[in-house]
Amino acid sequence: MKPILQVSGMHTYYGRSHILFDVALSVYEGETVCLMGRNGAGKTTTFRSLAGLTPPRAGEVVFKGKPCTRLPAYRMARLGLGFVPEDRRILGPLTVKENLELGKVPGRKGPWTMSRVLDQFPVLRDMPHRLGGTLSGGEQQMLTIARALMGNPDLLLLDEPSEGLAPVIVAELRRLLLQLKQMGTTILLSEQNIRFALAVTDRVFIIDKGHIVYSGGIDDFRRNTELQQKYLSV
Ligand SMILES: Nc1ncnc2c1ncn2[C@@H]1O[C@H](COP(=O)(O)OP(=O)(O)O)[C@@H](O)[C@H]1O
Ligand SMILES: [Mg+2]
Repeated sequence: MKPILQVSGMHTYYGRSHILFDVALSVYEGETVCLMGRNGAGKTTTFRSLAGLTPPRAGEVVFKGKPCTRLPAYRMARLGLGFVPEDRRILGPLTVKENLELGKVPGRKGPWTMSRVLDQFPVLRDMPHRLGGTLSGGEQQMLTIARALMGNPDLLLLDEPSEGLAPVIVAELRRLLLQLKQMGTTILLSEQNIRFALAVTDRVFIIDKGHIVYSGGIDDFRRNTELQQKYLSV
């Protein structure tokens, strides 16, 4: 297996606030990896650092063998990094199909076309002309993931995808992620939901107060209830 993403010694700040400390993590091709941590632990900041939205002040990000620390977001997207932010950012006045069109990334080719994406998301296929703003939270979450796929990413970052969704939608999301995995999609997601992470991921990193405090396989993580208590339970 080849690493698609390797991060080392990453420090990120918001102004003078030092948020991430020496963060290191890796993702290999075809894996689903989960960055877990409580509210405020630094999950979103890590993803923003990788996506080029909050450039790290120190450290190295290597994506597909290329050093890309501090590249702007549009360059990371063109290199094949798809980012689904926590706050979803569906464009309310645009239709489902128009929102999907916005996910296209210049120069990116791959298996995902409008019709393949719609096939994968029946809930969107059945209402391509609905306005984004009228969708439920669950439908919007599906739409943001579908929109990211339109850019044919080599690595998909999903920031807390199950957050705030009803259990039935979380189950649907779980099926979708397992399907994407079967299709060979490489995914790095963040979560606080332990059950969800256990169901979809191969490996886990735990972040706490901006430090990576654990990295291990899913079986090791599953057995380690003490670790789950310490860093993840509320
Ligand atoms: N724009 C910002 N300016 C200053 N501090 C921020 C900003 N965004 C987040 N933080 C702080 O950074 C820390 C990590 O936040 P975040 O990465 O959003 O955590 P998580 O996604 O794990 O909940 C928190 O202490 C949070 O208060
Ligand atoms: Mg967050």
